[in-house]
Amino acid sequence: MDEAKLMDFMGKIVTDMGGAALMANVMLGDELGLYRAMADNQPVSAERLAEKTGCHKRLLREWLNAQAAAGYIELTEGGEFVLPPEQAMALAVEDSPVFIAGGTSVLAAMYLGKDKLVAAMRGNGGLPWSDQHPCLFRGTERFFRPGYRNHLVAEWLPALEGVVGKLEAGAKVADVGCGHGASSVLLAETYPKSRFYGSDYHAASINTAKQRAAEAGVGDRLSFEHANAKSYAGRDFDLICFFDCLHDLGDPVGAAKHAHQALKNDGAVLLVEPYAKDTLRENFNPVGRLYYAASTCLCTPNSLSQEVGLALGAQAGEARLRRVFNDAGFKHFRRATETPFNLVFEARK
Ligand SMILES: C[S@@+](CC[C@H](N)C(=O)[O-])C[C@H]1O[C@@H](n2cnc3c(N)ncnc32)[C@H](O)[C@@H]1O
Repeated sequence: MDEAKLMDFMGKIVTDMGGAALMANVMLGDELGLYRAMADNQPVSAERLAEKTGCHKRLLREWLNAQAAAGYIELTEGGEFVLPPEQAMALAVEDSPVFIAGGTSVLAAMYLGKDKLVAAMRGNGGLPWSDQHPCLFRGTERFFRPGYRNHLVAEWLPALEGVVGKLEAGAKVADVGCGHGASSVLLAETYPKSRFYGSDYHAASINTAKQRAAEAGVGDRLSFEHANAKSYAGRDFDLICFFDCLHDLGDPVGAAKHAHQALKNDGAVLLVEPYAKDTLRENFNPVGRLYYAASTCLCTPNSLSQEVGLALGAQAGEARLRRVFNDAGFKHFRRATETPFNLVFEARK
């Protein structure tokens, strides 16, 4: 028994438990507008924050103490609290490229789904995405949306051969497993001459996606269909996109085959997947541990609940993803670009 090693590990697990507890506080701060009320970078007391937000003063003091203890906000010499601009970008500014507070609802879904996950673990492994707590769907939208807003138009599409020109001139585009449609709406806003077709097997997500399109005023060029990744309508697409959904599918090879049939001969597939290397040990890093943990509760059980149940997991890596597309008949598959959170691939016939 190595006492120092034990103490190191206890330090690690207490830090992680603190993080898990803190995320519940971040979720409160996001939902109640506490970070937004502090985004002006001015020191506040619990009393002042209570006046600004209408929330309970004593509970706010405890919340502020927790945030300060975690280093998410700063304690001034005078005993007030400040949200520095860097933290405000991550916690308060929904449209900033690094906004991440919305993702806490994804973590909440992992805890709220506990009983169903216990049953899945003891049973056949399957838990459909659609059976998870509803906070997952909005949480996923808000977790991924900043990445799309920041990278999709500026970096990912230009990294594909000749795709931007087609989108500007007027192309036909499918967004498979589109969820609430954050990516589809952004594409439709950016390329008004093109036509966009989002689809997802989760009916409630498709209803929300339709609302999002209407709110954004792009309903004339963006439509949504409640459909499986292996059976959505349409042919002759110039571009078929899979945004962070391929590894969730029970039959990703079947979905890639459907894309192969639905794509024009000179069309492209844009595949965006969580950043991962090819081996487990290479994924021992903060992003890998976040995605493996989420994948255990969300992505892999969904895949296992469907036909084939290939269960790629969120850390599949390039070699495994290439095999999916090769098995589906695609001759070309290359990494077009990447971010710390995403791998971005282009597949062609
Ligand atoms: C991680 S979410 C990503 C959603 C969306 N693309 C985004 O980036 O916000 C995965 C999505 O895949 C959808 N999905 C799961 N299995 C599916 C299937 N067999 N066919 C179509 N969509 C599926 C889920 O409903 C969910 O919306």
